[in-house]
Parts: sequence; structure tokens; C-alpha cells
Amino acid sequence: MLKIVVCVSGGGTNLQAIMDAIDNGKITNTEIMAVISNNAHAKALNRARNHNIPALCLSPKSYPDRAAFNEAFTEKMKKLSPDLIVLAGFLVAIPPAMVDAFEGRIINIHPALIPSFCGVGYYGLHVHEKALEYGVKVTGATVHFVDQGMDTGRIISQKAVYVQEGDTPEVLQRRVMEEAEWVLLPQAIDDIANGRIPLPKKNL
Ligand code: GRF
Repeated sequence: MLKIVVCVSGGGTNLQAIMDAIDNGKITNTEIMAVISNNAHAKALNRARNHNIPALCLSPKSYPDRAAFNEAFTEKMKKLSPDLIVLAGFLVAIPPAMVDAFEGRIINIHPALIPSFCGVGYYGLHVHEKALEYGVKVTGATVHFVDQGMDTGRIISQKAVYVQEGDTPEVLQRRVMEEAEWVLLPQAIDDIANGRIPLPKKNL
């Protein structure tokens, strides 16, 4: 059984896609141990609670500085000790110590085809605004392993989505979510849970 912790910051539609996929059997051999958000008001936390999944808030605002938050966040994750950490719309930089402790065991969904429209400042709606501004005809989403960089880890999977005439950032974001994110992330988790994508040995 693959034990996962899902980290969220906002609406939680990717979390919902994961929970639904577990319920309908598209994801097997997987258990969500907990959902963690940096944002106490994240709708994603209510989605977890409605699914009887422990929902925790760990906010940088509750700590004197980022170093203290990073330490608390990392210690909490070590105590939970999941097999896999899934970043699903999580907007906080992962502490370097957590990346080290869970090397090769953290995945992220990015709403663009990395290496396009990624890195510092490229998150949420802003990604789609930039894609439309540039005038790309095709965008999409990427699932990748998380390393010490921002959106730089080894790519696991990608799915292309066509930009349509008259798209607004909101319309494009929704299409990328529906056609790419909500497909790729559950698929990646199921592939990991069933050994089609190998994980490194757990750091003791
Ligand atoms: C969305 O912009 C999504 O593209 C990205 O994170 C944001 C929030 O997603 N992955 P969610 O609805 O909280 O899963």
C-alpha cells in the first residue's frame, strides 16, 4: 500500500481528482494519510475533511521566520513518514531538508509543458496568462519529481492541450485542469503505487 501525503494551497481540484480516482479504482494500492495546507482557508482542506482524511494546516505565518516553518514542516512530514509526497497546487517552496529526506519521493503537478512557463513566479493563473501572452498554440501540464530547484526535477509525464481562439486565462486553466492535470496526476500515483514508476529506497 502506497501511503501518500498531499500538499495543497487552494481549491483542491487536483486533490479531488486523486480522491475520486481512489474511490473509483483508477488509483489502486494507495492511501492518503493526510492533507497538509499552508492556507487555513483552502477549500482543499474541506474536501479532505469531507472525505474523512486528516486535514492539517501548517502556515509560515504561524512561525517567527521561514527557517522555523521549514523545520516544523520537515519534522511533521518525517513523523508522518509517507512513501510519497504529492504537491497538488501547493504554493510554498519545499524546504531543502525535506527534499533531501524524501529524495525521489516528492512529485508535483505543473500547469504547463515544462520547460515552458515554469520556475519562479509561474504558478496558478499566471502560467496561463503568460502562455496566452506569448501566443502558444499548445500548452498542457507536467508531472515531475521535485528536486532542490523550482520545477526542475525529472519529468514523469506530460499531456498537451490545444489553446483555442478567444481563450481567457480562466478558460484555458480549466481546460488544462480537466484535460491534463486531473488525468496525469492520478495516473502517475497509480503507476508509482503499482511499481511501473520505481521509487528509491526510503531514507531511514
Ligand atoms: C491550479 O492553477 C493548478 O493548475 C495548479 O495549482 C492550482 C490550484 O490547483 N496545479 P487545485 O485546484 O488547488 O488543485
